[in-house]
Amino acid sequence: MKTFQNKVSVITGAGSGMGRYLALNLAKEGSDVVICDINKTSLKETEDLIKNYNVSCSSHLLDLRDKSNIDILVEKTLTNHGKVDLLFNNAGVVSPSAFLAMEESDWDWCNDINYNSLVYCSRAFLPHLMKGEETALVNTSSIFGIITTPNNSVYHASKFAVRGFTESLAMELNDDRVQVSCVYPGHIGTNIVLDARFGNDILLTNGEYAKDTKGNSLTVKEVGNAFKESGMSPDKAAKIILKGVKRNKKRIFVGLDAKIMEIAQRISPSHYFKIIPILNLLIFPYFFKRMKMIKMFYSLLTSNK
Ligand SMILES: NC(=O)c1ccc[n+]([C@@H]2O[C@H](COP(=O)([O-])OP(=O)(O)OC[C@H]3O[C@@H](n4cnc5c(N)ncnc54)[C@H](O)[C@@H]3O)[C@@H](O)[C@H]2O)c1
Repeated sequence: MKTFQNKVSVITGAGSGMGRYLALNLAKEGSDVVICDINKTSLKETEDLIKNYNVSCSSHLLDLRDKSNIDILVEKTLTNHGKVDLLFNNAGVVSPSAFLAMEESDWDWCNDINYNSLVYCSRAFLPHLMKGEETALVNTSSIFGIITTPNNSVYHASKFAVRGFTESLAMELNDDRVQVSCVYPGHIGTNIVLDARFGNDILLTNGEYAKDTKGNSLTVKEVGNAFKESGMSPDKAAKIILKGVKRNKKRIFVGLDAKIMEIAQRISPSHYFKIIPILNLLIFPYFFKRMKMIKMFYSLLTSNK
């Protein structure tokens, strides 16, 4: 795909993070945008930012877990814009917890948003994407769809599923005009940890405090803000994703950390966590900047109370 000019792009989870910047960068490059999110305030903020560009934008407040909302989104996209050229299945959430301590409702929440709604959106929009001359389906997995961490099983399960689904679909549609890409971001500084549903095993005192392995108390807000401040900017991440789409890349890795983790997984599928620090030494200044956050988040996930 050479250009996004005069295309119609649908972006899920466009109220925040990478979704917001995918929408803004697509608008900047001349694509009409259809944005949707469950968060009214942040969705409106994205909508207002898009007004800086001379494109048509339709905005839809919805919960992607309800299939009928997705059917309506397809209908409204076709009514308002006449076609769809690109679909970015971007919305996603995290729910860190030990597997057995996890509420089933949190398991379903994460899996329904990250995987089931992505599959339903793909099913609903694909027939329309297939009518276009040059179209794309772009599904966001994660580097956590390639490697795993403890106390994060639902996120890994959903993101491995997105990867399997998307990479299989890319092969299936290889001879078709619709190109299919799977996105594997590393650490991107967004609201995703601030909006996480932490399990009660990780949270203490009515969900306000968590402890790291050394027993230091951390507020979820502290962890979430540290995550947001130390990651790659979502604007930069969105630009990398769009560059990958233009080049019709099947796998789009976002960030050096994602590339290193992927290489480590390939070199040693069972012991990649031993290799990652060694590979990280090659990019020491980059690693150093993120070390505090990585330690904080990892010790939180591995905390044993
Ligand atoms: N931030 C990272 O480090 C990172 C790393 C790897 C993968 N990812 C993935 O990238 C994608 C974007 O994440 P982000 O980091 O920009 O997160 P974010 O929290 O900044 O944005 C996610 C958006 O999805 C929306 N959303 C959540 N539930 C929804 C629902 N039921 N219906 C509609 N919208 C809903 C949220 O309101 C939010 O605006 C996600 O799929 C995430 O799993 C993020």
